[in-house]
Amino acid sequence: MQVVRTRAGLRAVLAGAPRPIGLVPTMGWLHAGHVSLVERARAESATVVMSIFVNPRQFGEARDFEQYPRNEARDLAMAEAAGVDVVFAPNVDEVYLPGFDTVVSVGAISLPLEGAARPGHFDGVATVVAILFALVGAERAYFGLKDYQQVAVIRRMALDLALPTRVVPCETVREPDGLALSSRNARLSAEGRARAAVLHRALRVGAERLSGGERSADTVRSAMRQVLGEEPSATVDYVSAANPDTLAELTEIDGRALLSLAVQIEGVRLIDNELVG
Ligand code: PAF
Repeated sequence: MQVVRTRAGLRAVLAGAPRPIGLVPTMGWLHAGHVSLVERARAESATVVMSIFVNPRQFGEARDFEQYPRNEARDLAMAEAAGVDVVFAPNVDEVYLPGFDTVVSVGAISLPLEGAARPGHFDGVATVVAILFALVGAERAYFGLKDYQQVAVIRRMALDLALPTRVVPCETVREPDGLALSSRNARLSAEGRARAAVLHRALRVGAERLSGGERSADTVRSAMRQVLGEEPSATVDYVSAANPDTLAELTEIDGRALLSLAVQIEGVRLIDNELVG
């Protein structure tokens, strides 16, 4: 596995690399969810590139950026064991060149849910992903569906800007109690970690209401809120039952729905979702 830190280094190692190239963009602190993205990329690509870059432009508060867990030595060992060929781990100045003054801003799909809770977040994501797509020139890029809205934003961007990299959404990987794997889980105490299983319990209750015949989106959202309310350490940011294509909140649920929520536990903001129907 080769580790490169500059645009020139990346260009050099990829010049003769066998194609297709599969890209797994990450912010490091790898876990089994990232490994599953690499496995999918490995199965479909001749060369697998992973980027490890904690992108300051997608964090609202400097504190959140600074607190983001980092351990490059551990990440590189995991990436190599998972079958990555090339890791691109640049400094901030190598991604955002001096005088950098461009923002990629996706429209309506980036506004509700995470977009409303974290203004500017998706501009930061879309901008860095556009740069990574341009630098790597991969045929495919792999993203986890725990960040459903992020996948939708990146797909919209790739389509609108005619970017040649195909966006491949991959299933969420979960702990045995249902907690979606996330780098943020590392910031929870053992007790907080156990309490965080409430997110998945709430989604399951919402999905069960729907499969039981419930059609009112308000009732489904209330049922999920009730489960979250039983966990006193959970502070709810939002609970949503939305159209999976537009992310607009639903009134009646007649077909597919995206149930999603954002909850803080011990000050750590966790998100999860379930696509139903
Ligand atoms: O999902 C992430 O880890 C990040 O948002 C991404 C896609 C690597 C962009 O920084």
